[in-house]
Amino acid sequence: SIPVLDFGSQTAQLIVRRLRELGYYSELLPHDAPEDQVRALAPVGIVLSGGPASVYEPGAPTLPSWLLESDLPVFGICYGMQLISHTLGGIVTRPAGREYGPAMITITHPHPLFADTPTEQPVWMSHGDRIEQLPTGFTAIAANPATPFAAIADDRRKWYGVQFHPEVVHTVYGRTILTNFARLCGARPEWQPNSFVAEAIERVKAQVGDHGRVICALSGGVDSAVAALIIHRAIGDRLTCVFVDNGLLRAGEAEQVIATFSEHFHVPLIAVDAREEFMTALKGVTDPEQKRKIIGEKFIRIFEREARALAGVEFLAQGTLYPDVIESTAPDRPKAAKIKTHHNVGGLPADMQLKLVEPLRYLFKDEVRAAGLQLGLPETWVWRHPFPGPGLAVRIIGEVTWERLEILRQADKIFLEELHASGYYRATQQAFAVLLPVQSVGVMGDGRTYGVTIALRAITTEDYMTADWARLPYELLAHVSSRIVNEVEGVNRVVYDISSKPPATIEWE
Ligand code: XMP
Repeated sequence: SIPVLDFGSQTAQLIVRRLRELGYYSELLPHDAPEDQVRALAPVGIVLSGGPASVYEPGAPTLPSWLLESDLPVFGICYGMQLISHTLGGIVTRPAGREYGPAMITITHPHPLFADTPTEQPVWMSHGDRIEQLPTGFTAIAANPATPFAAIADDRRKWYGVQFHPEVVHTVYGRTILTNFARLCGARPEWQPNSFVAEAIERVKAQVGDHGRVICALSGGVDSAVAALIIHRAIGDRLTCVFVDNGLLRAGEAEQVIATFSEHFHVPLIAVDAREEFMTALKGVTDPEQKRKIIGEKFIRIFEREARALAGVEFLAQGTLYPDVIESTAPDRPKAAKIKTHHNVGGLPADMQLKLVEPLRYLFKDEVRAAGLQLGLPETWVWRHPFPGPGLAVRIIGEVTWERLEILRQADKIFLEELHASGYYRATQQAFAVLLPVQSVGVMGDGRTYGVTIALRAITTEDYMTADWARLPYELLAHVSSRIVNEVEGVNRVVYDISSKPPATIEWE
């Protein structure tokens, strides 16, 4: 195995995951774990994670003395590398600026650690301190202008270090570099790329214990569904799911949540029909932010009510994904101006004092989908596009009424059906219909109509921060348009949104 010693970096767990994916068994251990505990894993090499401390601060975590005397190969990442340097007599300082985010490095000395990677390569940096002077025995093997010692090696000892983070996806050759280290350790990729599912189940078991009870809000999206299924596998019926039907979901979604979880998976499920309650609260409201606020607060109140009614619940499940973890913990990110307040299912008031269970905390979206498939979640669910917490309310421009909801639901259903049938659903990252507060004149049969307008929106994107409008075939658009005006009463005009983000946003509100 190649254990990772944890010096407190947010991405320490991710190093373990990457190594396992590459076929090398790994576990995350505290940096001061006793030698016996580490040796029990039969290590052939050790990775030192990054961490928030500075090596010269009093009380900063230190290198275990047993490791210094061992003959194990060592790979220090960020703080791990600074620690190697500091401990073995190099100099680490804090320069005026810090390096955070994407950077290019140049391999200055060809080295097996960088085998099968180009001389110039993009990496992810995140550090304040840097090495100024190497300890004896080490040479620099990669550099960039801000970081003269971006990678170092002592080949006699087989100790290596990198200032950047090979475990994050932004370091394009990170996996190759980790594989190269494993090879330098003489390890063979024999670990079955075991599913994250089994790991996640074990982690939930360990956290919740033999008696803990968990409550989980289901939204109809893939994240909360996979989180719930993992927890159910771990603790069985000590999990209770709550599904709040706010009346703002897509056609057939509420029924599918209930059928799948209750009838198919036999997960204890409380389905709350809160449609009237939400509609009453939204009466007369047209401002988008006001809609979000009302829906968010209403959801929390209802969920809270259900949670309090359940005896002995101490844990709240959340489908937090790894990118959200990075996002919320990255220091010095320029704070984005508030464009929209995003509300997600699961945000609860602090006074409930539930402990969080986050089984997806170390997973990326594609891994969550893979886990969903493995757990038997229907494919249509697994590949479902993201859907905003405030639901169709932000896709009805103007007031939300029962009648307008029904028009939108039907138009949206037709659009999605045709996207599925033509194979374009998977080629777009989000697609939906919007109901505009615009009426226009039309003609149907021999009569004049004065109907409402549906806008179709389909986008392609990598990260939803920027997006382009999907180049759907005219034939497909023509077919969707004709079905909508023919099948949805009250609609006589369909338009296609050809705006990118920016300057537009994906949703209309
Ligand atoms: P925008 O419209 O900001 O959307 O370009 C980016 C992504 O976020 C989703 N979105 C929301 N999700 N609550 C959510 O949970 C919200 O209030 C909300 N508003 C937008 C949107 O669907 C897209 O995927």
